Amino acid sequence: MSQPDSQFEFLPQMSAIAREAGTLLMGYFRSRVKIEYKGEADLVTEADRASEKLILERIRKQWPTHDVIGEEGARIETGGDYRWYVDPLDGTTNFAHGFPVFCVSLGLAFHGKRQAAVVYDPTRDELFAAERGLGAVLNGEKLSVSKTPKLQQSLVGTGFPSHKRHKNPNIYFYHQITLRSHGVRRAGSAALDLTSVAAGRLDGFWEFNLNAWDLAAGILIVEEAGGKVTGMHGEPVEITDRDVVATNGLIHAELLHEFDEIFAGRGLEPLPDPREYRK
Ligand code: IPD
Ligand code: CA
Ligand code: CA
Repeated sequence: MSQPDSQFEFLPQMSAIAREAGTLLMGYFRSRVKIEYKGEADLVTEADRASEKLILERIRKQWPTHDVIGEEGARIETGGDYRWYVDPLDGTTNFAHGFPVFCVSLGLAFHGKRQAAVVYDPTRDELFAAERGLGAVLNGEKLSVSKTPKLQQSLVGTGFPSHKRHKNPNIYFYHQITLRSHGVRRAGSAALDLTSVAAGRLDGFWEFNLNAWDLAAGILIVEEAGGKVTGMHGEPVEITDRDVVATNGLIHAELLHEFDEIFAGRGLEPLPDPREYRK
C-alpha cells in the first residue's frame, strides 16, 4: 500500500477543478436548463452531465491511476489506492427551479478512508475544503463547528430523497425535531447542509439514504472542523454508508436519543386538530 502524499497535496488542484465546474454550472443556471427525469421526482439536467464530464476529464488527466465514481455514470474501478466520489451538481432540484442553493462536491478516499474534500458553492463563491488531519477551511479561513450546547437552542437541517419517497420515515423525524429545536431547515443540498454544520451555520444535520457522492466530501469537512459524524445509532460512518447524523458534537447524544425514541414510537406528538389550533 503506498502512503498518502504530503500536506495539502490534493486541495489546490481539487479546488481548481471544483471552481471550474461551478463556473460551468452558473452558465447553465443563468440560461435556465430543461428538466429531465431519472425517476418520478428525480431530476437531472444537461448541466449535471456537463459538469461530471469536465470533472472526470480533469481527474483522469492529473491522476490517471485513480478510480472515480460519479453520480451521472462515471465508473472507473480498478481497485487502485485512491477513489473519487463526484457529485457534479448537488441540489439539482433547486438548480432546475432557479433556487440558488447547489454545489459541486468532490470527495477523495484512500483505501476507503476519507482523505480530501472540496465543496464549492458557485452562487456565493464559497469553497469549503479539508484534508485528513489538516483541518477544514472556507475560502482559506479555518472553519469550526458551533458551540450550541442543547438541541432546544439549535438550528438543524435535514433532507428528503427524490425516489422511494413514500418509504422514507423522515417526515416523522422532521416533525419531532422541529418541536424540540429552533427549527429544521431543508435547503436541498446535502453537501451544503454538511458544510453548514462545519461552518457553524447549522448545529446539526441528518438524512436517510444518501449516496457516497453526496457524503464523502461533506463528512470529512465536518470532522476536520471539529464536528461529530455517525450513523443513526451512533455507529461510525463508512464511505459507502447511506444514513448520517452530523453535529457540532455537543448536541449529538441528545439528537441520537430523540431518534431512538422516534424509532421506538415513544413520545410522538399526535396530529393536532385544526380547530384546537385556531383557538
Ligand atoms: C440530493 C440533495 C438533497 C437530498 C437528496 C439528494 P442531488 O442530491 O443532496 O438535498 O435531500 O437526498 O439526492 O440529486 O441534487 O444531487
Ligand atoms: Ca447529491
Ligand atoms: Ca447530483
